[in-house]
Amino acid sequence: MSKQQPHEFISPVWRDGIFKGRVAFVTGGAGDICSAQTRALVYLGADACIIGRNVEKTEAAAIDIAKVRKGARVIGIGNVDVRNFETLKKAADRCVAELGSIDFVIAGAAGNFVSPLAGLSPNAFKTVIDIDTLGTFNTMKATIDHLVESAAAHVSPNPENSPPGGRFLAVSATFHYTGLPLQAHLSAAKAGVDSIVNSVALEYGPRGVMANVIAPGPIEGTEGMERLASADAVKEERESAAKMRLRPGIRGGSPGIPSGRWGTVRDIADATVFLFSAAADNVNGHVLVVDGGAWRRQGGS
Ligand code: HXC
Repeated sequence: MSKQQPHEFISPVWRDGIFKGRVAFVTGGAGDICSAQTRALVYLGADACIIGRNVEKTEAAAIDIAKVRKGARVIGIGNVDVRNFETLKKAADRCVAELGSIDFVIAGAAGNFVSPLAGLSPNAFKTVIDIDTLGTFNTMKATIDHLVESAAAHVSPNPENSPPGGRFLAVSATFHYTGLPLQAHLSAAKAGVDSIVNSVALEYGPRGVMANVIAPGPIEGTEGMERLASADAVKEERESAAKMRLRPGIRGGSPGIPSGRWGTVRDIADATVFLFSAAADNVNGHVLVVDGGAWRRQGGS
């Protein structure tokens, strides 16, 4: 991953150093989507602290992410479960002690599996609610004071166009807009995530903290999609989209994805950069769906 050219993991529209002096705290930061988000922020000047359950995976991801920019400080804190507030709080404190602040938060840790309702035990349902919904709440609770401090220290907009602070971002999904078979647990959990962010946006907006959500669609090459779609289904979707693109002048037309392609982790990294940039200074309480328009067809058609 670290041998990638920058344009492969981030759009060339972004300017070097726009996050210089800022620190990102990212739960699930070793995962496919959140590591891509973190890599983009670090490439553009931020330092970062990534949190995960698996010690080796989290520390290795931190080392890998740090390679994108000379002098980047990226720490990986493993053995932290977002379901446990106390360990999360300790991780946030360590982040501030070692890196100096928490200016951006990504609540990205997620747990999911495919199961019919009949196959879900109450504990299975609760497990996903606990990781995704309670985990987002715990992440917010463990970091919000730092975000308020950051927002006060980096008031936006400012004439120098220096990097903003005090940004909270949750990673959600689109399933709960319509419901999705085999995903009752995740749909319920992500509805809760969106709802928490709405409240943070209203309660903390006046204190300068901007809270938003990114709702990714199907993202190729991720563990989440591997769990949801078989390799054959992915191939079929790609071939179908490619065929539609052969028709001159018509972009997209894939049965499920109006843009005609699966999403990439770069799509989510770019959306993240936008929401944390000075360009999004007045974007608060927003859900940015990054799925090529697929959610508009989820109910059918
Ligand atoms: C039914 C299942 C199950 C399955 C587990 N359970 N897998 N039930 N079908 N496939 C049940 C167990 O039987 C148990 O209930 C309960 O769930 C808790 O299981 P544990 O294994 O004890 O939980 P835990 O060790 O905490 O693991 C959590 C996990 C696991 C969610 C089950 O898969 C995990 O750690 N996942 C993290 C990584 C991950 O999921 N990544 C994908 C995220 S992607 P009982 O009743 O037996 O006690 C994502 C994106 C979605 O979320 C959107 C894409 C567009």
